[in-house]
Amino acid sequence: MAQVVERAQEILDPAELMPRVIGRYSSLHIDYGKGIYVWDINGERYADFTSGIAVVNTGHCHPRVVAAIQEQAARIIHAQANILAHSPMLRAAKLLTATTAPNLNQVFWTNSGAEATEGAIKLAKVATGRPAIIAFRHAFHGRTHAAMAVTSSRVKVRGHYEPLIPSVYHAPFPYLFRSPYKGAPEDADLYYFAELEALFDQMVMPDDVAGILIETVVGEGGYLVPTKRWLQMVRALCDKHGIMLILDEVQSGMGRTGKMWAYEHFDVVPDIMTAAKGLASGMPVAAVVSDRTLMDRWAPGSHGGTYGGNAVGTAAAAATLEVMRDEDLPGNAARMGAVLMAGLREIQADYPVIGDVRGLGLMVATEFVNPDGSPNPEAVKQVVARAFDDKTLLITCGTYDQAIRIVPPLVVNEEQIRDFLDVYRRAVATVA
Ligand SMILES: Cc1ncc(COP(=O)(O)O)c(C=O)c1O
Repeated sequence: MAQVVERAQEILDPAELMPRVIGRYSSLHIDYGKGIYVWDINGERYADFTSGIAVVNTGHCHPRVVAAIQEQAARIIHAQANILAHSPMLRAAKLLTATTAPNLNQVFWTNSGAEATEGAIKLAKVATGRPAIIAFRHAFHGRTHAAMAVTSSRVKVRGHYEPLIPSVYHAPFPYLFRSPYKGAPEDADLYYFAELEALFDQMVMPDDVAGILIETVVGEGGYLVPTKRWLQMVRALCDKHGIMLILDEVQSGMGRTGKMWAYEHFDVVPDIMTAAKGLASGMPVAAVVSDRTLMDRWAPGSHGGTYGGNAVGTAAAAATLEVMRDEDLPGNAARMGAVLMAGLREIQADYPVIGDVRGLGLMVATEFVNPDGSPNPEAVKQVVARAFDDKTLLITCGTYDQAIRIVPPLVVNEEQIRDFLDVYRRAVATVA
């Protein structure tokens, strides 16, 4: 009895039990979630416009995902992929490849976005026999060593961890709102493409390059949307030089942008794609997806992992993919994204502290500026805090935290979007 009382009174202090490396946006201690809402241990409800960093696209604890996890957990939890095949892993692969282009027909399951990045880089190297990777400034691909090397969204992700893997070259990503190009704005993408091509004159031979790795829409680095022309030119460049185009759809995929995969907006298909985050509604499941002919170059045992394709995780992935399809969540993201974007543009028109509203579907951000146009992270901090006071969760993005991401679960409805817009307008008004 004494023990029970002691446990009931136990104080669980994150600052004591967890390292400070886990920087936190709020002090919320959460109890449960449903749809777009989460409730803390005091019973307070918050609207989650972070989706756990663009993860719970089906909403918190979607009943079909919960049921699939519960059912699978009672059947078998761990059926190690090198030893055993199992239905959840195979069903999820079938459902996943039903949504992708025909050449993205095999799935290597892994546990996190960073591990998917590692796998994609390794596959590109094995498939081409080449050593180098080209990545882009502002990109974020994860925090393991190769993933850090291709990341440049913020120096704190990679600084003090050198040496990073060599033979990684960075070109500028089309950050069109802050382009240094002085000519006509509609030609800025050509400037960025020329900068990419210049790497082949200045830094690396194209036939040393295994892959060009791109976040189809840059996430962490500021929610940057490239032009269709730019991505198509990069695709053509890859074809010309036998380079693998690797698209990181970890954040932009799974319906987030209003299409199942963001690459569909650009009429471009990658050779290798990575997916994670929304893939299993919060279970740690990620994937490298590619063509069988490429995957066949990976000799048995030359890549792998203990937990990849975990039975409970992939059961959640299969249920998530079915929910996406049956509830047309990409379609809802497109429709709700249009309402959100229009509302944000109205707020921007009234408050010039918002310099830019950008995004696709429900992958949307507003960038805050000072009167001289420079990044305004102070305004961002205050808007996030004001929205929190109004029981709405938001997170930032961009090198300087100059932008706020608006990434609700894709099950969000119009009334919830309009309520959010009221909250956001009030929050922005306090810094304007
Ligand atoms: C585009 C992108 N790639 C890779 C990652 C890394 O994923 P994880 O945190 O699951 O390792 C992230 C995470 O934010 C991401 O946004």
